[in-house]
Parts: sequence; structure tokens; C-alpha cells
Amino acid sequence: MDVALVTGSSTGIGESTALHLARNNFHVFATMRNPDAGTALLEAAKSEGLRLEVLALDVNDADSCSNCVGEIVNRAGQIDILVNNAGIGSGGPLEEASMEHIREVFETNVFGAVRMMQLVLPGMRERRQGTIVNVTSVAGRVANPNMSTYSGSKFALDVMTESLAAEVVRFGIRVALIEPGVIQTPIFSKGSNPPNPESPYSEFVERAGHWFGVRLEKPTYPQEVAELIEHAIVTDEPKLRYLVGPDAFSMVQARSEFTDEEWLDTGREMSLEEYVQLLSDRGISSYLDE
Ligand SMILES: NC(=O)c1ccc[n+]([C@@H]2O[C@H](COP(=O)([O-])OP(=O)(O)OC[C@H]3O[C@@H](n4cnc5c(N)ncnc54)[C@H](OP(=O)(O)O)[C@@H]3O)[C@@H](O)[C@H]2O)c1
Repeated sequence: MDVALVTGSSTGIGESTALHLARNNFHVFATMRNPDAGTALLEAAKSEGLRLEVLALDVNDADSCSNCVGEIVNRAGQIDILVNNAGIGSGGPLEEASMEHIREVFETNVFGAVRMMQLVLPGMRERRQGTIVNVTSVAGRVANPNMSTYSGSKFALDVMTESLAAEVVRFGIRVALIEPGVIQTPIFSKGSNPPNPESPYSEFVERAGHWFGVRLEKPTYPQEVAELIEHAIVTDEPKLRYLVGPDAFSMVQARSEFTDEEWLDTGREMSLEEYVQLLSDRGISSYLDE
């Protein structure tokens, strides 16, 4: 039974992925900052007779990372699959983001994932076998206003993952990127500071609110992401990148149809209605209207 470590399993995509992998014959270590949050997962696993254990892991803390990996190797012998899912959201204009906040987001979304990869790679390389799945975002493919911090962190992890994938393919290690659009999870109720209505950038906050609101009316659920993560692990035809959700596909498609200058032009002053119309005129309304 392959051993899978999933980070950020307390809620959302990580919780669904931990359970889905356990239901599909993986021995799962569902890790989270506060293991008390794993009670429901443990109960589900127990009632279904699954091999799922909950362990403490804060990816921002190097000791926590090495202790967690050491504990799993002690209990299960090795780590075959790492799912780097832990992440935090962020919204707001770059000018108004504190350096402390930007560092915090990069600490979790980038350095946390890198820390975990560095801990599992030696064993995978020696065994010439293993899979690393990094959950980034469509925001790591397309940079929208109001998302510079989050997008910056996801672009960073995206390109580091692509680079790593080519470095380790010779060692038989599979590396994949999961790039979801808007997924209905608690991420939207955590973290970010309330928007400042006096901000000269408030139009972007309004657009972002509209965009997430429309998508969350017909959401993609974490289970769909979990199933794709499992597919990325087990498929005989592995790919580097997997988009998830209709908005993720149309956003990437849309961006490829704009020149850089046309894309920047969407940032000029205009009402929300004009903005939606502009995208519609370009034939890319689907991701707002679907
Ligand atoms: N939801 C979306 O629309 C969406 C779209 C694209 C990509 N994503 C990405 O998908 C991943 C999962 O997000 P989600 O939507 O499922 O949100 P979520 O429900 O908030 O889950 C995020 C998980 O990461 C954990 N986490 C945060 N900081 C951590 C740290 N320092 N160490 C360990 N765990 C930490 C959280 O733990 P706590 O419970 O302790 O906070 C939680 O378990 C993230 O990387 C996110 O960026 C989400």
C-alpha cells in the first residue's frame, strides 16, 4: 500500500484528498496544523476501515516538517506520495499589502511546499520512485489585479515545480501541478483583511468580489480536485499540469487570446458592467457568466 502525505488536511481540498486517497487504497497521513481538526476525518476512516492517520504539521516550521516526515518514515517505512496542498489565500492591491503579509503568504504557499519537497526527495530519489503533487492555482497561470501576492506565490511554486519535474524525471519521480479555479472551500472565509472602501483600488476589489461570487454560485467542489489528484498519481499517462474547474480552463484560454497590452488595458477605469461587457466582447464571458 503506497504511503501518501497530504498537507493542509484540516479542511477543503486537503481533507477531501486525504479521504479520497484512503478510499482508493493509499495509507494516508493527513497532516494539519492542529490535529484536533482531524476528528471527523479519523471517524470517517474508522467507520470505513481505511488506513488514515492524522499528524501535526505546520509547513512554516522546519522542525515540524522534519519531525512529521521522520514520524511517517518510522511508522510506515517510506513516503511514496507527497501532496503539497497547504496554502493560504490573499487578496488586495500590491501597494496596500504589508511586507509582513506578503512574506507570510510566500512562507506557506512557496517555502512550506519547498521544505516538504526537500525532505521527501532524497528517499524518493534513492528508491527511484515517488510522486509529488503540488496544488497551485489558475492564479499561478494568469495574474489578475488584486491578486499580486497570491498569484506571485502560486506562479513561484508553479515554475519551481516545472523546473524540479525535469530535474527528477531521470530518478523515476513523477511531479504534477494541480491548478484549480474557484473551489468551494473555507479558504474564502479565512485570512484576508477587509477591503478598504476608500482605497483608490476599490474597483478591483469589486471586480474580484463579482468574479468569485459568480463562480461560487455554481461551484466546483473539493472532491473533484481530490479525484484529479488521485488521477495524477496513478495514471499511466502522466501530465505536468492539470487545470480543474470550467473557470480555470476559460481563464487560461482567455489570457492566451489577449496580448499583454490588451490584458493591461482591462485595468483601466470602467464600471463593473463595462468590464463584464469588455470580456464578453472578447468572447470570454463564459468564466463570468457560466
Ligand atoms: N479554494 C479555491 O478556490 C482554490 C483555488 C485554487 C487553489 N487553491 C489552493 O488549494 C489549496 C487548499 O486550499 P483550500 O481551498 O482547500 O483552502 P482551505 O480549506 O483553507 O485549506 C487550506 C489548508 O491549508 C492549511 N494551512 C494553512 N497554513 C498552513 C501551514 N502553515 N501549515 C500547514 N497547513 C497550513 C489550512 O490549515 P488551517 O485549518 O490550520 O488553516 C488548511 O488545512 C491551497 O494551496 C490553495 O491555495 C484553492
